[in-house]
Amino acid sequence: MDQNKLIITIDGPAGVGKTTMARKLAKHLSVAYLDTGAMFRGVAWKLGQDAWLKDEQSLADELKKMSFTLRGQGERSEMCLNSVPLGPEIRTETIGLWASNIAKLKVVRDFLKKAQQEIGQQTSLVAEGRDMGTVVFPHARYKFFLDASPEVRAKRRYLQLKDMGQEADIEAILKQIKRRDDQDRNRAIAPLRPADDAIVIDTSELSLEDVLACLLQHLKPAIV
Ligand code: DC
Repeated sequence: MDQNKLIITIDGPAGVGKTTMARKLAKHLSVAYLDTGAMFRGVAWKLGQDAWLKDEQSLADELKKMSFTLRGQGERSEMCLNSVPLGPEIRTETIGLWASNIAKLKVVRDFLKKAQQEIGQQTSLVAEGRDMGTVVFPHARYKFFLDASPEVRAKRRYLQLKDMGQEADIEAILKQIKRRDDQDRNRAIAPLRPADDAIVIDTSELSLEDVLACLLQHLKPAIV
């Protein structure tokens, strides 16, 4: 990996605010922002419901038809699947659950890991997901792991969905968050966990501004 490239990883469970934080940080540092959840969501959305039950060869054949590119920088970074920007269609809780289902599969993880590392070779970035610090960018200069209780995360997700004009039921969201936590933390390949050298931040009691200030404090040596 090119040592001049600044790679910052932010991992954590669903609804913890990684996306918002990674976007803000990328804007602040004028680097690209890599939303790897969007890549898993994009694959899940393209493949459809229950795709994770298909055999490995047919999934591999489907994946061969997909390519990801990252356009732009900072807040305007845009993940494209086959040159088409991924939009609000992938942001539903249902697609989140489909994404978590296919994220268990080696064929999918290997495909996306390669795509993510290729993007990381081209540009400095803030990479956000579940296994950025542990598996995809183990040599990243800075690694963060954001955490918060499932209840706090459900409330944040609820407000986010409302904000996007989507119907939302907080109890259903809490249930889905717990289900996804369980799947993401307990899968055999690249489970959600902090890297040994990650800075772990519990954001339950912190505002977005507090979390950003905390990250920037740790990043001071890279910024000045
Ligand atoms: O961050 P998100 O909610 O958009 O991610 C959707 C799902 O994708 C998540 O439940 C698990 C999977 N995922 C993953 O396994 N590894 C990543 N690096 C990013 C997402």
